[in-house]
Amino acid sequence: MSPRKIFATTALPYANGNFHIGHIMEYIQADTWVRAQRMQGNQVNFVGADDAHGAPIMIAAEKAGKTPQQFVADIAAGRKQYLDGFHIAFDNWSNTDSPENHELSKQIYLDLKAAGFIETRVIEQFFDPAKNMFLPDRFIKGECPKCHAKDQYGDNCESCGAVYAPTDLINPFSALSGAKPEMRTSEHFFFKLSDPRAVEFLAEWTQNGKHVQPEVAAKVKEWFGVRTNPDGTTSEGLDDWDISRDAPYFGIEIPDAPGKYFYVWLDAPVGYLASLKNLLNQRGEDFDAYMADPALEQYHFIGKDIVTFHTLFWPAMLKFSGRKTPTKICVHGFLTVNNGEKMSKSRGTGLDPLKYLALKMNPEWLRYYLGAKLNGKNEDIDFSAEDFMLRVNSDLIGKYVNIASRAAGFIAKRFDGKLGAVSEDGQALLAQLRAAKDGIVAAYENRDSARAARDIMALCDKVNSYVDANKPWELAKKEGMDARLQDVCSTCIEAFRLLTIYLKPLLPAVAVQVEAFLNVAPLQFADADTLLGAGHGIGKYEHLMQRVVIEQLDALFEPPATPVVEAVKPGGEEIAPTITIDDFAKIDLRIAKIVECKPVEGSTKLLQLTLDAGEGKTRNVFSGIASMYQPEDLQGKLTVLVANLAPRKMKFGISEGMVLAASHADEKAVPGIYVLEPFPGAQPGMRIG
Ligand code: 2FM
Ligand code: ZN
Repeated sequence: MSPRKIFATTALPYANGNFHIGHIMEYIQADTWVRAQRMQGNQVNFVGADDAHGAPIMIAAEKAGKTPQQFVADIAAGRKQYLDGFHIAFDNWSNTDSPENHELSKQIYLDLKAAGFIETRVIEQFFDPAKNMFLPDRFIKGECPKCHAKDQYGDNCESCGAVYAPTDLINPFSALSGAKPEMRTSEHFFFKLSDPRAVEFLAEWTQNGKHVQPEVAAKVKEWFGVRTNPDGTTSEGLDDWDISRDAPYFGIEIPDAPGKYFYVWLDAPVGYLASLKNLLNQRGEDFDAYMADPALEQYHFIGKDIVTFHTLFWPAMLKFSGRKTPTKICVHGFLTVNNGEKMSKSRGTGLDPLKYLALKMNPEWLRYYLGAKLNGKNEDIDFSAEDFMLRVNSDLIGKYVNIASRAAGFIAKRFDGKLGAVSEDGQALLAQLRAAKDGIVAAYENRDSARAARDIMALCDKVNSYVDANKPWELAKKEGMDARLQDVCSTCIEAFRLLTIYLKPLLPAVAVQVEAFLNVAPLQFADADTLLGAGHGIGKYEHLMQRVVIEQLDALFEPPATPVVEAVKPGGEEIAPTITIDDFAKIDLRIAKIVECKPVEGSTKLLQLTLDAGEGKTRNVFSGIASMYQPEDLQGKLTVLVANLAPRKMKFGISEGMVLAASHADEKAVPGIYVLEPFPGAQPGMRIG
C-alpha cells in the first residue's frame, strides 16, 4: 500500500498570551497522532501558527506600547520552549500576518465573491467617539438588562448568565475609553451561508459520518434547525456570517474595500494553509501541486469551543472557493485540573507548563498521562495530581520500564550483552504482543490513545507475569540454567522492544533512549513483525525514567509566593512628605467658572482662561493644557483654582492663579493632563477643603 499523504494542524493560538496546559494537551494529542502516522510510513506535514489578527491583539499591543507586529513576534519568540519542552514536533510555526496568509485569504475571498457568496449590508453598531472606532462586543460594558448587575460585557452577563445584544445594555460605555458609545452605521461584508448551496453542502458534509465525530455531528445538526435568538425571534437554516471589520483593525485589508478588514476568524483558518505553504516554500516544493493531489488528507485538531468555525464556516469557505475540504475535524473536550475550573482561554489556571518543566518533571509523564485519558471523543478530562502520580508510577515505571531493568543486567553480565534464542513459551508470549499491533495502531488512528495505553499495559502485565513465573533472579543462581536464563531474559528484551514500539508515539524521547540501548534504527510499527534474534548485541541499560514523587506535585501546585511589593509610586511619583492641616489651610482652593477660554498666540502648550471665582471680578490664568483640550471644551465649565498663589509674570501676560489638573510624573510614558471638575452643585467662589 502506498503511504498516505497527510496535512495536519492544531488550532492557531491567539498571539496575546503564553500557552497554557489546555494548548499543550491539544498539541500532545495531535503530535501523538502524527508520530503514529509516521511510524506507519505515512507522510505528514504538521503545522501550527500564531493567530495574529483582531481587535484584542491590536488593543493589547497599543497598551504595551508596541506595534501589533512586534507584539506578535515577542509572543512567538516564547513558543519554542513549550514545544521543545513537551517534545511537540511541528514541522513549521508561522503566523497569520504572513505574506502567504495575506495572499491566500484575499484569493479565497475573491473566489467566494466570484461564486456569488459575498454580499454587503449596512449594519448598526456601537462606535466609541473617544477612540474613534467601532467597538467589538467584548469592549462594550454596561448594566445587565435582566439582573441589573453593573459592569457586564456586551454579549452576556457573568452574574445571571443572560445572553443579549450590546444594544440591550443599560447605560453602555466603552471598556476602552469609558466614553458613551454612539450607534453608527457601517457597510459590512457577509459570507452567504444562508445560500441554499451552502446549507445543502454543510448539511451533508457534517452529517455523513465521515468528517466529524458523532457527538459533534449531533450538536452541529441543532444549528440547522429552528432556534431562538437572544432577542426572542426565531431563525431557521444558517445565518450569513459577518466577515468584515472597520479600520482601525489589525488584519488583512479586503480587496477593493479600503478601510475594511477581514474579521480575524476569516483569515485564521486560512493560516493553516499559509503555514503549510510557507513550509513547502522553504523546502522548494510546490504548494498548489501538493494541495491538488486528490489523495491528500487534511486533519484539523481543535477544542470543542471552536466547532462552528471549523464545521460550518471553514469547510464552506474551502468548498465554494473551489478548494479541498477537510478530511476530518478532530474535536477534543476541555481539560480541568484537580477537578477545578475548565482551562479558560485567557487565564488557563491550574497547571503551569513552564513550571512543570522548570521543576525538571519528565515531559513524557504528562504525554503519557494525558494520552491515557484522551479517547478520541469530545469529552472533558481532568488532570488530578494524585491520579497522575499513581498512573505514571504504576504504568510506566512499575509495568513498562521494570521489564527492561529486570532482564538487561543478566544479558550484560552473563552473556556479554548478546541475546539468545527465544524458546516456545517466549515465542508464544511475543506472538500475543504482535497480535495486538493492529488494534493499537487503529486506536492511535482514532485518537483513542486511552485504548492504546490500556492495551499496551495489559501486554506489560502479561510480560511481567512471564517474568514472575520464570524468576530469572533464581535461574541466575542455579547451576546449568544459563541457557534458560538467556532465553527468558532475551524474551523480556524482545518484548520490551515491541512495547517500546507501541508506546513510541506517546514517549518519543524514551523510545530514542531505548533505540540506543537496544542498538537499533528508529523503530517503526512494521518492526513489530520481526525479532532482534539470537546474537544481537544490546548496549548498557541506563535507567529510563524516574518515579514521580509527591514533592514535585506539591511544588507544581504550590501557589506562587506573594511577590515582595516594591514601594508603589502612584502616578509615577512617591507621595510627598506629610504636612499638617495648617499647612494645607494655607492653600486657598476655590471653585471657579471658566467664563472664557482662548488659544494663546505663539504657544502650542498654553490656553488662556478667564475665571470667575465669585470675587465680583474675573482673573486671567494661563494653563499648560492645550495638548488635551480645545478652548470650546472648557468654556462654561467649573474647575478648581489655587486662589492665593502669588501672581506670576509670563511671556504672554500675568497669570493670576493656577487651575488644578492631574498628570503622570513621566509625561512621556503616560501622556495626558486632566483638568479637575467639581460634582454638580458647586458654585463659583466656594472654598475647597
Ligand atoms: O480560539 C482560538 O484560540 C483561535 N485563535 C483559534 C483559531 S483556529 C484557526 F482557525 F486558526
Ligand atoms: Zn445579569
